[in-house]
Amino acid sequence: MTSRTASGAGMAGRAFLVGAGPGDPDLLTLKAARLIGEADVLLFDSLVGREILALAKPGARLVDVGKRCGRPSAQQAAINRLIATHARAGRMVVRLKGGDPFVFGRGGEELASLRAAGVAVEVVPGITTALAVGAALQVPLTHRGMARGLHLLTAHTREGELPAHDWTALARGGTLAIYMGVRTLPLLAARLLTAGMAPETPAIAVQSVTLPEERRIPGTLADIADRVAAAGGEGPTLVLIGEIAAMALPAAGTSWVAAA
Ligand SMILES: C[S@@+](CC[C@H](N)C(=O)[O-])C[C@H]1O[C@@H](n2cnc3c(N)ncnc32)[C@H](O)[C@@H]1O
Repeated sequence: MTSRTASGAGMAGRAFLVGAGPGDPDLLTLKAARLIGEADVLLFDSLVGREILALAKPGARLVDVGKRCGRPSAQQAAINRLIATHARAGRMVVRLKGGDPFVFGRGGEELASLRAAGVAVEVVPGITTALAVGAALQVPLTHRGMARGLHLLTAHTREGELPAHDWTALARGGTLAIYMGVRTLPLLAARLLTAGMAPETPAIAVQSVTLPEERRIPGTLADIADRVAAAGGEGPTLVLIGEIAAMALPAAGTSWVAAA
């Protein structure tokens, strides 16, 4: 296998921003798995599981820098400094993030900070949750005649509020993949309804996709927020809204929260 290193002539140290995918270690890229095994220091988020961390080499330093759902800037600044400090000390640093580093992963901020610190960085993509949910449900996220676009949305601003998306545009169709949406789901659904999306539009929430504890909660735009609240559960949750969600069928070995 070709071994590539982080680029950046004249820079001190190197670091890798690596996507760990949705949880199942089999969904790591080969490159991610290799880098995890080579790293001297691994800084990981709370959504990165033990099976993935077990790929680290003996003696590697594993640092949990995780905090689910939004991170205060001060803590993010400390993470940025930590990566740069280890990299400049000549250690191979892998910053491991759930899903993809550049999809609601604050990878852009870390990249900018490392560049400013003179650290060479390479970014390794991971499977973002929306794609993993589509595959797990066997639901195409775009589908001819049914969904001509896919919107990846956060439902959570820095202050924990629902962001001011263009609800009218979003209500026109296509597939909506909602990240960090459990708390603001009632408001989000209300905004889409007000903007004209049909109440019977299919929706499905998936908790802990690709992990043994995965759960699926089907519903409609009108009732998905209530169903998710009633189902409870601690795992990270992604919500799909759009016609394609109706194509999800119960599969053997998966846990479904029954629709009424
Ligand atoms: C801070 S964002 C990180 C997204 C990540 N960078 C990605 O590309 O998937 C965290 C959100 O991603 C979603 N998420 C991450 N892992 C998940 C999983 N295994 N199952 C369901 N949702 C997940 C949830 O919406 C969670 O609140």
